[in-house]
Amino acid sequence: MKALVEKAFFDLFEQRPILSFAPGRINLIGEHTDYQEGFVFPAAVEQGIWVAIQKNQLGKCRLYSLDFQEEFSFDPTAFSPKKGHWANYVMGFLAQLKQAGYEFQSFDMVIGGNIPVGAGLSSSAALSVAIGTALSELFDLSLSKKSIALYSQKSEHLYAGVNCGIMDPYASAFGVKGKALLLDCRTNTHEEIEADFGDYSLILVNSKVKHSLADSAYNQRRAACEESVRILLSEFPEIKTLRDIPVSQLEKVSQLLSAELFPKAKHVITEDDRTHRAAESLKSGRLEEFGTLLKESHQSLSEDFEVSCKELDFLAETSWKIPGVLGSRMMGGGFGGCTINLVKNSEINHFQDILGEAYENEFDIQPEFIPVKIGQGARIV
Ligand code: GLA
Repeated sequence: MKALVEKAFFDLFEQRPILSFAPGRINLIGEHTDYQEGFVFPAAVEQGIWVAIQKNQLGKCRLYSLDFQEEFSFDPTAFSPKKGHWANYVMGFLAQLKQAGYEFQSFDMVIGGNIPVGAGLSSSAALSVAIGTALSELFDLSLSKKSIALYSQKSEHLYAGVNCGIMDPYASAFGVKGKALLLDCRTNTHEEIEADFGDYSLILVNSKVKHSLADSAYNQRRAACEESVRILLSEFPEIKTLRDIPVSQLEKVSQLLSAELFPKAKHVITEDDRTHRAAESLKSGRLEEFGTLLKESHQSLSEDFEVSCKELDFLAETSWKIPGVLGSRMMGGGFGGCTINLVKNSEINHFQDILGEAYENEFDIQPEFIPVKIGQGARIV
């Protein structure tokens, strides 16, 4: 892919580019907690996005996407979001740099990648982080990984209309080969934890569906959590977010919140606790316990937070019954994309046969099995 992106750049713009790479991410556990300043446990994967970049003297930026086989130009001194367009990720990031007072000039860029789109591996965060890494190098901006992650998140809010948390760009920027990141989304700092799964491997199962309500439901869930915090302040004046409420206070929380809001808050509060326990169990090699927490996370996301869908429920619930599967749950924002599964190496073929056939019988869709290895975060390549 790197060679393809480099060649496309040379063919189009007749210059040698600088190249950056940023990976997609998985999340082991800790879902829908990042925007409540909670804990998440993601890792970078080996698949990602490559960006080739070089300055030009034209006063306009020329972009080319290999995936879309499409060009796009804009004036770097005057631009605005273009609904649903891939170029928003470039313009969105530049808008952040401008706002922060950084100087840059016009440039050419080619973008290419190998992250399955719509699978929930955060190709958009990888794209933003790859763009940030490339711009920082090209214009000598010395942006820290943390700034790149924060600008990426802001760019997604303002140019893509999703009020996402920090998890995806952070994992893409900070990922370390073979390690998962226990990320504290309040301080935006992390602990690296060896992801040693012994005789087991991580396999994603792509449901190949993406329900259209995903983005609006995401923003609604986030708003529901904020609403709960406002109500809970009457009894818990010291809290800033749901992260500040321990599991031991759930009973009291249930008395204060409506039947609509309580399950959502309960998910966030219990998921934070599960994330800590999962990190501990992985550290000490207690994989069965780790797998059980994945299952509990799915049940909470599906029943309480209501961000699953029938396809993801079917994949997770069927997997729980297959021998050699320690854990399975929906991964990411929800309403489609992948489940993440911890499967015994000797049972992987069997797992794929049984689950593939069952899913196809039920939904007439062949799921895609994606083995994942934990890779290194963003860099100049
Ligand atoms: C999406 C968002 C993340 C996070 C997850 C849910 O991937 O981009 O910030 O909120 O959903 O855990």
